[in-house]
Amino acid sequence: MAEENGRKEGQSAGVGLLESVREKTKQATQTILEKAKEDLQTLKEPEKTQLWRSIFRVKHDDTPRNRALSVLTNVFFHLHPAKVNRDAVRYSFTWGMGGITFYLFIVLTFTGILLMFYYHPTKVQAFRDILYLEHDVPFGKLLRNMHRWAAHLMIIAVWLHMFRVFMTGSYKRPREFNWCVGVVLMVLTMLLSFTGYLLPDDQLGFWAVTVGTNMARATPLLGHEGPFGPQLGMTPYNDVRFALLGGSIVDANALLRAYIWHCIAIPVLAAIFMGVHFWRVRKDGGISGPAPVMLESEIKEEKGPRPVIMRPAGTKEWEKTK
Ligand code: HEM
Repeated sequence: MAEENGRKEGQSAGVGLLESVREKTKQATQTILEKAKEDLQTLKEPEKTQLWRSIFRVKHDDTPRNRALSVLTNVFFHLHPAKVNRDAVRYSFTWGMGGITFYLFIVLTFTGILLMFYYHPTKVQAFRDILYLEHDVPFGKLLRNMHRWAAHLMIIAVWLHMFRVFMTGSYKRPREFNWCVGVVLMVLTMLLSFTGYLLPDDQLGFWAVTVGTNMARATPLLGHEGPFGPQLGMTPYNDVRFALLGGSIVDANALLRAYIWHCIAIPVLAAIFMGVHFWRVRKDGGISGPAPVMLESEIKEEKGPRPVIMRPAGTKEWEKTK
């Protein structure tokens, strides 16, 4: 009797186990089917998945909000303002000279780093390295000339940029500070050019730096021939010219100093000031100019005088006029 009871209990436990296994298999099949359905849907409409939405976060319908969002949520676009004054993209207004100056700075940095692989700032090596670059290094002549021409062009471009800023009155309120940052950039650009001139250690560079640094003798207070210099104890052996040359004549120390100023200190300073310069362009309400920020469609609808919603050069407030 007890044996039979035991068998029955065993049987019902077996049935229960079978049931639960069946139930679990059913659930698993259901889950797999649902997942397969989801995957199929994903393949058909990938743009509806969470992954897609996490990457492409903005709809691209042509509305002002979506235009702004697509710029603000994209790391590369975000370097630019969400809305741009139409004058800012008109070459006849800016001549693109600020952008071209910056582009030339990038070219100079790149070619300059490559030149550093071949150049030693010593009296024995410097000029020989230049000859080696010109005649033996593959594409060395091209590299050197790219650096030299980009330097000449940067000087021309920065002057034209300054001239344009002056002619469009863009130095006026609220852009006075950026004008001052620009003046520093201009000085740094000239100093880059001047320090680079000595590096080939040829006659041209030697005499240019001799004349240039001789002018430093006459610096007020800091030059031994300048106003109040001698009274402050300046001599040819402790004044600003001595500091620039690392001695009293243009020689090995001057070459090394020019090299360090040219390749490290001035480019780093210029890059920092350029960062501030671009930041101020945005903070001052974008590039100056009277044109309003409008969509093409809004421009077509517009009748009569255009509303001004940017801050034009020389005005105190943001304006909206009709
Ligand atoms: C390394 C030198 C420089 C670089 C790379 C540079 C770059 C730029 C760029 C990209 C812009 C945007 C508009 C444009 O492209 O014209 C700009 C605007 C401006 N820059 Fe420069 N710049 C330099 C030197 C100067 C100098 C020498 C001045 C004046 C002394 C100056 C004053 C200004 C001002 C006031 C603006 C705003 C102009 C506006 O709102 O219309 N910059 N700069």
